[in-house]
Amino acid sequence: MTKISLPLSRVYQMLEPGPVVMVTTALKGKPNVMTMSWHMMIDFEPPILGCVISNRNYTFNILKTTKECVINIPSVEIAPKVVAVGNSSGSRVDKFKKFQLIQEPASVVSAPLLSECFVNLECKVIDMKMATKYNIFILEVIKAWITPSKKRQRMIHHCGQGTFVVDGKLIKLPSKMK
Ligand SMILES: Cc1cc2nc3c(=O)[nH]c(=O)nc-3n(C[C@H](O)[C@H](O)[C@H](O)COP(=O)(O)O)c2cc1C
Repeated sequence: MTKISLPLSRVYQMLEPGPVVMVTTALKGKPNVMTMSWHMMIDFEPPILGCVISNRNYTFNILKTTKECVINIPSVEIAPKVVAVGNSSGSRVDKFKKFQLIQEPASVVSAPLLSECFVNLECKVIDMKMATKYNIFILEVIKAWITPSKKRQRMIHHCGQGTFVVDGKLIKLPSKMK
């Protein structure tokens, strides 16, 4: 089969892993939120994950200072808000006000939970050794929340250039993976 060259700039779109999430942080009582799709699971329990937060983002400095955040997982219903949040910076605007985001206090960290997101993961930064070179933060989830619902929540996955895939049907296969 004939192949054509895939621009290296598009490689990430092919390997995009988990759902688009929203990272909340807080500095001196002032909350901020950013959208993030570059993250990966590293361990099961305690849950450890790695995420890339660019040093051009306001969140980078808050996270470096406070070492705390919440990973909030939105469903497709609020996708337009998720993308709008990811296209503005908390260094210039109060995104909670601008996008009418509802927050509630977390139990362990100072960053708030986003009420509209159906999963909220309270996290501590446990390793910043790769933050300077690669903008990578290693997080441990220390408390996790879910909004109970009979209906399955459908998450969104970033494909680049304003396109997203929405979770489709579930299939079940025999697997030893827990
Ligand atoms: C769908 C989407 C995914 C994004 N993923 C990331 C990401 O993984 N890492 C990152 O640093 N920025 C990512 N961004 C960009 C940030 O969300 C954006 O720069 C944000 O406005 C930074 O906010 P802040 O300056 O208030 O921290 C993404 C944006 C969108 C729309």
